[in-house]
Amino acid sequence: MSGKAQAGWASLGDMPKPKAEGHGLLFRNDQGTLWVGAENDHVLRVRFVPKASFGRDHSYALTSPRPRANAPSVQVGDSQSVIKVKDLSVTVSHKPLRLVFRDATGAVIDEDDAERGIAFTGTTTRVWKTLPDDAHVYGMGEKGGRLDKRGRNLGGTSYTMWNNDTFAYDSDTDPIYVSVPFFMVMRKARAHGVFLDNTFRSSFDVGHESQRLLSFGAEAGELNYYVIAGPHPKDVVARYTELTGRITLPPKWALGFHQSRWGYWPESRLRYVANAFREKKIPADVLWLDIDYQDGFKPFTWDKTRFADPPRMLKELGQQGFRVITIVDPHPPEQKGYSVFDQGVAGGHFVRNADGALFTGAVWPMRATPPRRSVYPDFTKPSVRQWWAGLYKPFLDMGVAGIWNDMNEPAVGDQPNGTMPFDVRHDNEGQPTDHREVHNVYGQQMSRSTFEGMRAAKPDLRPFVLTRASFAGGQRFSAVWTGDNQSDWSHLRGGIPMLLGMGLSGFAFVGNDVGGFVDSPTPTLFTRWAQAAVFFPFMRAHTTRRSLDQEPW
Ligand code: NOJ
Repeated sequence: MSGKAQAGWASLGDMPKPKAEGHGLLFRNDQGTLWVGAENDHVLRVRFVPKASFGRDHSYALTSPRPRANAPSVQVGDSQSVIKVKDLSVTVSHKPLRLVFRDATGAVIDEDDAERGIAFTGTTTRVWKTLPDDAHVYGMGEKGGRLDKRGRNLGGTSYTMWNNDTFAYDSDTDPIYVSVPFFMVMRKARAHGVFLDNTFRSSFDVGHESQRLLSFGAEAGELNYYVIAGPHPKDVVARYTELTGRITLPPKWALGFHQSRWGYWPESRLRYVANAFREKKIPADVLWLDIDYQDGFKPFTWDKTRFADPPRMLKELGQQGFRVITIVDPHPPEQKGYSVFDQGVAGGHFVRNADGALFTGAVWPMRATPPRRSVYPDFTKPSVRQWWAGLYKPFLDMGVAGIWNDMNEPAVGDQPNGTMPFDVRHDNEGQPTDHREVHNVYGQQMSRSTFEGMRAAKPDLRPFVLTRASFAGGQRFSAVWTGDNQSDWSHLRGGIPMLLGMGLSGFAFVGNDVGGFVDSPTPTLFTRWAQAAVFFPFMRAHTTRRSLDQEPW
């Protein structure tokens, strides 16, 4: 039987008896293929595709290799099957196909909506679940608004996962830079987690379409999700980060105060700031250089009229106790004779349009003289990540302490969607695809390349990478700051639930621009922000170019 049609959606209908496959059960009918099974003692997994078989089982979010699960207990009946691991069970009704998850005490924690359940339309898949009135929802990574995603006085909210360069975003701007398709439900003092491991644009509806429903799904790919046992929220975070990985220990100095701005050039200005910190005895460990230190906005170069002798400068700042971090963006200019461009073309490292021509976009190098368009490394190709990783070595050898990856949503100025056209091609770790599938991991894979470059160049030092865009699991490679916020009290307030929500979503090393990026704070706002930021894991003051001076004094 085919499922009910709902505004173009077909819900899963009846399934014949499943067969055992791996640590779970495989169901197949004329609508598609479903696998339900065990990931480990505390995590169950569901995969569905509206096709006759699954594709490659590949993840940018999950660590690999993953520990092998204990075999679950599996009972197959005529009308339902039950799969049980230590902390969870799932009952699968066959006709129509619906799932109910229970915790170790037997209490229902997650239940498909009886009417809709898992559904699809075209390549889009989605699941509708019941949302009890007393359930609260947390997580979803870098999101504005309240910590409880149930939100808007139960009028509901919805969230999109699509990395987005959102200058001067506000509390209701969605999506922004980072996508973490993970949430935690808390009800009757018991928590569990759900992670949708799908990199396509996805969306989460928390009681918005209907107050009694929570639904999520993605535009293409598999409906591939994990249900993670609690009962304590910290159990959920621990198990989610067991799946997607944790931050490696950062260098101790990275926990100190960082001072940045767009516009610390030439060297004399940076030295003035460094000296002022020491004269005024204000603690600070790190100074940051934004795009203007580069020659013509070319990654891995220095503008020698502004910074005549970087190794000497880095050494002298080091003697004053400062580390220096430099920005490296993913868009080298298309410029013959510039070694990064020449090597990238020779190696086939840059992304191409569907017709095979190099994809180029307008970003900072358009402000150089003469203006240049930019090319983009394909960070979803292991050999490209390795090549780019190697480019950091001269910088690290001369004493640069950490790397800041920006604009890696990727931001493309002259495209109507602000990023690459959807048909741009990517390697996707050996299974070529278009931009829709890898957009959300472009920044994560760039930060991975940077992290690996730092580790290879300085095996005895702990890498420090800061990224603007990332995806679930990106916490393994870098810290995250929340992009272009504003110098406004509402952003001091709004930054707190945003950073806490990121922590609940596996990103432990996070902060925002202290004082705000866009515009200039009053002295009182800056002071209050700095006081709050003492409790942010990553504490960096940063501001846009041409704003007022934004140092603590
Ligand atoms: C955008 C970033 O969000 C901001 O922090 C930075 O200063 C500018 N790009 C210039 O690099």
